Amino acid sequence: MRRILALLAALALACGLTACGRTATQSDPSQSIQEEQSGGEIPSSTQSAPPGAATPDESEPPADGEPKVLVAYFSATGSTEGIARHLQTVLAAGLYQIVPEDPYTSDDLNYSNDDCRANQEQNDPDARPAISEDAENMEDYDVVFLGYPIWWGQAPKIIYTFLERYDFDGVTIVPFCTSGSSGIGGSLEDLQALAPNARWLDGQRFSGGASESDVASWVEGLELLPGADEGT
Ligand SMILES: Cc1cc2nc3c(=O)[nH]c(=O)nc-3n(C[C@H](O)[C@H](O)[C@H](O)COP(=O)(O)O)c2cc1C
Repeated sequence: MRRILALLAALALACGLTACGRTATQSDPSQSIQEEQSGGEIPSSTQSAPPGAATPDESEPPADGEPKVLVAYFSATGSTEGIARHLQTVLAAGLYQIVPEDPYTSDDLNYSNDDCRANQEQNDPDARPAISEDAENMEDYDVVFLGYPIWWGQAPKIIYTFLERYDFDGVTIVPFCTSGSSGIGGSLEDLQALAPNARWLDGQRFSGGASESDVASWVEGLELLPGADEGT
């Protein structure tokens, strides 16, 4: 009898831990910007994520004629990271987190304060926050999915740093973002100007809670290589 009770207790503990883990990493898609920012804590998943280098080891070598795909993203509070990880799974792609050399604190992101770092950067056309580690073998990739949160209708300036750092000529760039409610449209013109010889596909906005199947449905309709549908 004692053994059965011990077994039941162990099971209950395991279930409890699983439930806690889920709550801590989920983001609420319906959060308004205010709601999202008022709490202020930056999820530990983002804070502790290893910086930088692309992880081609997690990607599979593409079959003949298939593009080599990298998912590159910046995420200050974890929402865009969730979408990036779905993409990595769906595409069997490499993953590169754009990590700021100087990480953003809650105060830095408190956009209701005019002087917060994020607002200052967004208001400064020359701001280019430094990235802590380069992506490896960028020249190997045919397609780069580029993810970011919307900040004041635009991409964070660290995305500009990223686009200026590499040669994207002939590369297909597929932008995606998360936001409180804003679309991706307003952020694209500036980004395209920084890599004018890339082949830019339409961008896609996701809520932070978008599922892997939401992401997969979007990817299914994309023409990742030019003329990929021709002759079929
Ligand atoms: C400085 C700042 C500005 C923001 N501006 C907007 C905005 O213009 N429109 C919007 O819908 N959300 C805005 N947001 C909310 C973020 O886009 C949203 O929380 C996003 O999902 C965060 O992604 P992340 O967790 O990957 O950093 C802003 C957030 C911050 C910190």
